[in-house]
Amino acid sequence: MIAVMGATGHTGRMISERLLAAGSEVRALGRSTERLAGLVDKGAEAAVGEATDASYLAGAFRGADAVYTLIPPSVVAEDYPAFQDQAGEAIVSAIEESGVGHVVFLSSVGADQPAGTGPIAGLHRQEVRLRSLEGVDVLALRPGFFFENHFETLGLIKHQGINGSAIAPDTTLPMIATRDIAEAAAEALMAPDFSGFVVRELLGPRDMTMAEANGIIGDAIGNPDLPYVQFPYEDFEAALAQMGISASIAALYSEMARAFNTGMVRSLEGRSPANTTPTSLEAFAAEVLAPAYQAI
Ligand SMILES: NC(=O)c1ccc[n+]([C@@H]2O[C@H](COP(=O)([O-])OP(=O)(O)OC[C@H]3O[C@@H](n4cnc5c(N)ncnc54)[C@H](OP(=O)(O)O)[C@@H]3O)[C@@H](O)[C@H]2O)c1
Repeated sequence: MIAVMGATGHTGRMISERLLAAGSEVRALGRSTERLAGLVDKGAEAAVGEATDASYLAGAFRGADAVYTLIPPSVVAEDYPAFQDQAGEAIVSAIEESGVGHVVFLSSVGADQPAGTGPIAGLHRQEVRLRSLEGVDVLALRPGFFFENHFETLGLIKHQGINGSAIAPDTTLPMIATRDIAEAAAEALMAPDFSGFVVRELLGPRDMTMAEANGIIGDAIGNPDLPYVQFPYEDFEAALAQMGISASIAALYSEMARAFNTGMVRSLEGRSPANTTPTSLEAFAAEVLAPAYQAI
């Protein structure tokens, strides 16, 4: 049996579906029985609880051959780093308590840095905790910027005719589809090929600037001249706050954008066939972003 955290989310749902399709038993973790129902219909067992609850997690991990772990996102936490630490400590304590031997953790490029990277620093702290476990094999996947982040600005494009963020147009990032992260994670969970603490980057098909990504999105939605605007960090934080995002998280996102712009968040491995993944932004934009844009 394989236990999957965040099973209703981007990576966790696709990992669960791949595992079930391959005939594995899956325990799907989330906070809502209703949201997990689709996976239960496909044969998963639901385990409902909070990622900060160590005894719930230990029960959900018990008996698993491998577990997929992540620090859930939050847009409302008043102190997101404290939430990340609470969840991270609960996960590590549950790994120890349940005796699970193989762990895949969703980290990020930039998790080598202890501070100055916004929410990614919380993933660094979790890697440090996981590294200290004895007798447990841990694979930390470090993907780049998710293609799915581009959903966040579809409303801006639709209503104001511009795209933008605090990331500079000429900042180059590895960008990746979460389906490709799910593929790599599912493979590692079914046939763990890592021993001790291992880091693996996942870098998408190629590095690209925000301007290039914007051009691909513009083409897909029928607006090839879509302007891309870099917002000042303060304006970006204020806009996030207006959307109901907590001040803690707005400040962290702003810090992360700055870290992207200064090159602090970068691949350490360098691109190789092993860390290059197949889904192109062109395909994702046509198949997923354009229909979502038309539906707004
Ligand atoms: N976005 C990026 O570019 C990027 C890049 C690298 C790494 N990351 C990291 O990737 C992780 C997110 O992965 P993802 O996109 O697969 O996740 P996601 O889809 O954003 O969320 C996963 C699930 O977490 C659950 N959740 C939320 N709060 C929870 C809580 N308090 N307790 C238990 N479950 C909770 C939610 O399910 P329910 O509401 O159904 O419980 C949600 O579906 C984060 O750690 C992020 O830092 C992101």
